Amino acid sequence: MTTDTLSRETASLLAGFGIGPEILTAGDFAVTSPIDGSRIAALRRHTPGDLDPMIAAAERAFLLWRAVPPPRRGELVRLFAEELRRHKPALGRLVSIEAGKILEEGQGEVQEMIDICDFAVGLSRQLYGKVIASERPGHRMLESWCPLGPAGIITAFNFPVAVWSWNAALALVCGDPLIWKPSDKTPLCALACNAILGQAVARFGDVPEELRRGLSQVAIGGSELGEALCDDRRVPLVSATGSTRMGAIVGPRVAQRFGRTLLELGGNNGMIVAPSADLDLALRAILFAAVGTAGQRCTSLRRLIVHDDIAETLVTQLKRAYAQVKIGNPLEPGTLVGPLIGESAFTGMQRALDEATRDGGQVFGGERVLAERWPDAYYVRPALVEMPRQTQIVWRETFAPILYAMRYRDLDEAIAMHNSVPQGLASSIFTTDLREAEFFTSAMGSDCGIVNVNIGPSGAEIGGAFGGEKETGGGREAGSGSWQAYMRRMTTTINYSRDLPLAQGIKFDIETAP
Ligand code: UN1
Repeated sequence: MTTDTLSRETASLLAGFGIGPEILTAGDFAVTSPIDGSRIAALRRHTPGDLDPMIAAAERAFLLWRAVPPPRRGELVRLFAEELRRHKPALGRLVSIEAGKILEEGQGEVQEMIDICDFAVGLSRQLYGKVIASERPGHRMLESWCPLGPAGIITAFNFPVAVWSWNAALALVCGDPLIWKPSDKTPLCALACNAILGQAVARFGDVPEELRRGLSQVAIGGSELGEALCDDRRVPLVSATGSTRMGAIVGPRVAQRFGRTLLELGGNNGMIVAPSADLDLALRAILFAAVGTAGQRCTSLRRLIVHDDIAETLVTQLKRAYAQVKIGNPLEPGTLVGPLIGESAFTGMQRALDEATRDGGQVFGGERVLAERWPDAYYVRPALVEMPRQTQIVWRETFAPILYAMRYRDLDEAIAMHNSVPQGLASSIFTTDLREAEFFTSAMGSDCGIVNVNIGPSGAEIGGAFGGEKETGGGREAGSGSWQAYMRRMTTTINYSRDLPLAQGIKFDIETAP
């Protein structure tokens, strides 16, 4: 594979989405493929100044889009899902080229987009409100949901298409235009998604120019664009997915202007493996969750808390599996682990392994591989680290394939260890003991947003709300009630009587002269 091959293939994939080759050389914003480190595009970068007319266009589009009935808005999302089905192989492949995911996972990500679109289409007829009992005679109280305004969407490199679509599909049926600031590592995926959505808009029919222009826009650049979105009062909601460090900037900045945030940040996801666990299942689940996506999911398994009685057996089996996992070009069938996103991910991983070693950890794997073949790309063997206890490094999320293994003796101790980290995204337990499973999923069990039994912490379906507590940010994306974040809640009281009774029984009458 030469540099040329990937950039040529990228250009031809983009052409298939209707994006001409001129944008690939339009500026100095370099995009590289983590597969071989080669440059695949040099885009024109937006400045915070460019955002101003984009937000203005979104505001104008909002005035039109909010008046379209929700089921009709759902029709646009239905068409988008049709286009995504048509483009699935090509878009999945672009995800692999730009983010380094294996083909299977690139395709899976596009499937996740299709799934959330289907979900949103149904939802477009179910944006239910409430009728509330009024304490006043002859009165009716209602709660209903109105479109909110332009939604700012900030996404990370590791799910360069699916996470935007969770937001986009729901925001669109809720009546909100989109302004997307994708990761600076994966802007081509964003341009591709927007072009595919554009094809759905073209088929939708009866779209005034103002709506077409402002309904969905992409801003290409660095964190300065995200910050500008955060500071702009015309963007009532900023949904940000990424690191805790990023969320700690976004949260206060948006709050300062009383905007709303939806934060889905770092995870430090654990799995408890109890003595009664089906070890064969556990092994497969650990492998997918810890080494899949090269450990670069926010739901990746990072901490294994294993009962003393089975620790030796499980860790030995895991080492065998880790040694066999096929690492290499994610575009080649059979590869299970592709590259890290770049050099800083690699150095971060090595630093974490050094610190773990200093803390008494025994590191298995973790070394760079394939460096002679691809000196500008960063492939690693996933690392398994046996730790004497949870030290500082285990508490931190390192976005790389490192799995720390610790031991426990009783379940209370395991749950306390599990919950002691600052993050609260995804968790799981492997057990066939009903009492343990129920306890882990009870109020006294895992403190995470996602709590699984006999499956790993990653690979959630879109039907459930996705997100978590503590430093994970508290937001929920995708399914369940997440749509409410994209709407304005309206409480209405209607008086159909001939009197004016006040709530709380207050009397406030004026004496009227006879
Ligand atoms: C992410 O890593 O930001 O549950 C999202 C999962 C995927 C989504 C991960 N459905 O692993």
